[in-house]
Amino acid sequence: MLKDKIVLALDVETMDEVKMLVDKLAPYSGIFKVGLQLFCGFGLEIVRYIQSKNAGFFLDVKLHDIPNTVRKASENIVLNGASFFNVHTTGGLQMMKAARQGADDAADKISAKRPVILGVTMLTSIAQNVFDDEFKINKNVSDFALELAYLAKEAGLDGVVASAVEVERIKRELGADFKVLCPGIRPKYALINDQKRVATPSEALNRGADYIVLGRAVTKADDPTDAMKKIYEEIRENEKCIQH
Ligand code: C5P
Repeated sequence: MLKDKIVLALDVETMDEVKMLVDKLAPYSGIFKVGLQLFCGFGLEIVRYIQSKNAGFFLDVKLHDIPNTVRKASENIVLNGASFFNVHTTGGLQMMKAARQGADDAADKISAKRPVILGVTMLTSIAQNVFDDEFKINKNVSDFALELAYLAKEAGLDGVVASAVEVERIKRELGADFKVLCPGIRPKYALINDQKRVATPSEALNRGADYIVLGRAVTKADDPTDAMKKIYEEIRENEKCIQH
């Protein structure tokens, strides 16, 4: 279902805003993304609210620690019912394997479906100049991100977070089954804000994105439901993407 490909980023300040968005948009978004800002502010209260509306949640906490700690954190994320969570691929192969192990163990324990585990390759805030001037890594940042995607696959992660610009290359190199979740999605009519490499919802899906993240284009719209309906129309007008 299209709804299962739509992730709504709950990047808001208050629980009231969270509740308003989840109430209005649960029919259109199968997964609500809870990031560090909200999770540090309200913790499991948000998660429980999303679950009460029968929607999935993506715990976007980007784990990065020693393997044992990541394994234990992954277990708890699964026990709390996440549909998705993510880890930094730069934590290394053993750390990513530990995330997968923790998730498998916890899912077995409660006879639940294991969440989708995604790797964050390179933050979009890390541009080439950070490689050159700060990290002193003598590599092209995009090529390095692809190497990290290979490592994520080897570790047993389900896919990566990447710009819609990179989806086709990732699918070509890592296989169609390796999932790609794309942020930086903007309908034609919406403001680009601080995003750089954007694509429309149907462009991203047509290129092979398994999931698209919608944020301010919906959450900051005068009428979020109306904005979401327009996005659905745009996607449906481009039939090809529904077949993914
Ligand atoms: O409002 P906007 O659509 O730009 O929100 C995009 C969401 O995707 C935010 O939650 C942002 O943190 C997240 N994200 C991103 N770029 C990445 C990884 C995550 O924009 N590379």
